[in-house]
Amino acid sequence: MNCLIKTQTNFSVSGFYLWSFPFSVNKRHWTSLNQEKFCFLFVCLFVCLFCFVLFLAEQMKEDENFSLPPMDGYPNCKEKLKWMKNMWRTDPCYSRHGVNGSLPSIFIYLSESSSLVLSSLFQMDPAVVRESLKGLYPSLANKRQLHWIHQRIRSMEEVWVEAGRSLSAKYNLTERTAKQILVHPGALTDESGTHIAEDAFSGGPLGEQVQWSDLIATLYILGHHLHLSASIPALKAFLQGNTNGCPPQHSKVEPNLIYTDIVGLRQIQEVIGSSWIKYKCIFRILDTFGTEPDFNHPDWVTKHHLHGPFGGLNMTLLQFYTMFPHTPDNTFLGFVVQHQLISKESEQFKSTKRQNQALVYGKRATFWQGKEAYVDVIHKYLDIHGTADNTAAIPSYVKNHGIIKGRDVQTLLRQSKVFVGLGIPLEGPAPLEALANGCAFLNPKIQPPLSSLNSEIFKGKPTIREVTSQHPYAEAIGEPYVWMVDIHNETEVERALTAILNQTIEPYLPYEFSCEGMLQRVNTLVEKQDLCSSTRSWPPLSALQVVKAEAGTSCKKACQRMGLICEPAFFPNLNSVKNLAKYSVDCQTSEFSDGHLVYPAYLNSSKHCVFQSDPLLFSCVRSDQSLIRICPCRDYIKDQIALCKACI
Ligand SMILES: *[C@@H]1O[C@H](CO)[C@@H](O)[C@H](O)[C@H]1NC(C)=O
Ligand SMILES: *[C@@H]1O[C@H](CO)[C@@H](O)[C@H](O)[C@H]1NC(C)=O
Ligand SMILES: *[C@@H]1O[C@H](CO)[C@@H](O)[C@H](O)[C@H]1NC(C)=O
Ligand SMILES: *[C@@H]1O[C@H](CO)[C@@H](O)[C@H](O)[C@H]1NC(C)=O
Ligand SMILES: *[C@@H]1O[C@H](CO)[C@@H](O)[C@H](O)[C@H]1NC(C)=O
Ligand SMILES: *[C@@H]1O[C@H](CO)[C@@H](O)[C@H](O)[C@H]1NC(C)=O
Repeated sequence: MNCLIKTQTNFSVSGFYLWSFPFSVNKRHWTSLNQEKFCFLFVCLFVCLFCFVLFLAEQMKEDENFSLPPMDGYPNCKEKLKWMKNMWRTDPCYSRHGVNGSLPSIFIYLSESSSLVLSSLFQMDPAVVRESLKGLYPSLANKRQLHWIHQRIRSMEEVWVEAGRSLSAKYNLTERTAKQILVHPGALTDESGTHIAEDAFSGGPLGEQVQWSDLIATLYILGHHLHLSASIPALKAFLQGNTNGCPPQHSKVEPNLIYTDIVGLRQIQEVIGSSWIKYKCIFRILDTFGTEPDFNHPDWVTKHHLHGPFGGLNMTLLQFYTMFPHTPDNTFLGFVVQHQLISKESEQFKSTKRQNQALVYGKRATFWQGKEAYVDVIHKYLDIHGTADNTAAIPSYVKNHGIIKGRDVQTLLRQSKVFVGLGIPLEGPAPLEALANGCAFLNPKIQPPLSSLNSEIFKGKPTIREVTSQHPYAEAIGEPYVWMVDIHNETEVERALTAILNQTIEPYLPYEFSCEGMLQRVNTLVEKQDLCSSTRSWPPLSALQVVKAEAGTSCKKACQRMGLICEPAFFPNLNSVKNLAKYSVDCQTSEFSDGHLVYPAYLNSSKHCVFQSDPLLFSCVRSDQSLIRICPCRDYIKDQIALCKACI
């Protein structure tokens, strides 16, 4: 968090944001606005100057006692010190950063590379579960791009702190070291060219920002040192240790983990060039939809023409962190569904009576197009409420509330009996919020299933996963909470509605989507998921259960049918004749190949085994009609699918 230094041509952009923040509506005019302010301040400060003669005398004494360190490699430092000495009053920003005109204060300011740099003094300090989020707010407040995130975290502070206490009470969290963690949400930077950050306040997609908020809050509560970056200059300052031109006060912070997204990874690669490789295994890439191995493997991408905007990254697949547990090949990061409201609101909510009311899921009026008949059927049973951005395409009987705050949506959910899916948007957080607030969810079936092969929504995404309903995760929850309907079949819709209205359900939220569940999951991942060492020991091998999939069945399915989940970390443990013999697979002949994603596997007729020669191509998700896959499965904690029982 540095200020504008006018002797520099490439001034600090973070200082610019700090100033432009109140004027963000018309930021193009900030210069003229602020110059007037600066002139005014300059005059004020000039007058004040005479009032501080004594103060100055004090400072001169300080300056005499202060000796500068060697300046090798910092050619502009002396010049800047001189400039600052004369000009520090021209911008109140400096005094806010502790500059008081004395040489030591100026030097400290010029040698700081980030406001969090002091934390690097304690590389080995213990991670203590935090009892407040107050210390996090300054680094959020000074980043316009994280405005929505800041709001969400603040609104949930009490719940986070309580969840931290509750988790500490269940597990001994004392034996942990505080990690240095860089969090860089690339898609939220101005440089990304997307407008996700601004659109959040006008009905734009919120999924990613929800996830970033919850990740940041989680890591902070767990007691780690967070370094937030929301612009290229901030990224440079962290990764290159850029200062304002003087030798840094402290040694550069070396990150233990870097959370970013695909845009952010590319930005980091640009900023530090080929030296990004030294960080390769500590990256965790937030990737909403997930990445499958063929789309990740650079040679495979070239050979099979799978080029797209997101693929070919050549990462370990577990480095991709998804929104929902889409595929066991990636890591499930998830997010938090807001439900436990702060106490006084909760009282108010308890007294809210459920009306004969349905809330339709669809902020864009365009989502309603072609669904009139479906909504008409529901209207026969219930009053219909909506939160659509305009009323162009929605039936006149709908009571539309427009785009409203999360808390107001929750109030509507508490008053409603049904949350009505329109088929889009796919896989959002809202249906889980509805269940957590006691609504049933009408989940439209999608037939034929959508994937990147047939749908614009998924086009270019590095996966061919098939989506069979608006919300596959909710689909797995099932009745009495989630009701699958063909929205074009009136009989089916009516049948579901009658059943819903003839029942009462309690609010339901899977543990993995609560604050405590997310703290437990992320803590375990931070402590135990080591993707840097080649001899991985997590999850513990004792959790491995080997399952043979029928021909034509993927390991994801085969494990699922046994009440287990495919665990790709165990593939190397099955990838040899000797290993398979332990699980009574008798390979009479064998070979290694990198031609398919389904190895290790065998041909039942000839007892010929094929092993995977390229570890990047191990995968849970594909199948082959003639091959029997050997699958590494593991158990999982109920409602915490990312973790096996022996994992925590
Ligand atoms: C000015 O700041 C320096 C360094 O932060 C501090 O040591 C000194 O006491 C301050 N002097 C005055 C007069 O406030
Ligand atoms: C947690 O574990 C440490 C070391 O194993 C021990 O010293 C400490 O007393 C434990 N704390 C609790 C609350 O059990
Ligand atoms: C992919 O990553 C592996 C291991 O990190 C490396 O050896 C290989 O050169 C990379 N391939 C490409 C095309 O970048
Ligand atoms: C509508 O759904 C019902 C119940 O699932 C089914 O029996 C009927 O065949 C469906 N009608 C059409 C036209 O698909
Ligand atoms: C309503 O619920 C009752 C008992 O739970 C059940 O006996 C009845 O068949 C249900 N009616 C309908 C229409 O589902
Ligand atoms: C493999 O072949 C044996 C007999 O040769 C048969 O009993 C078994 O069911 C087959 N297994 C599968 C999974 O097809």
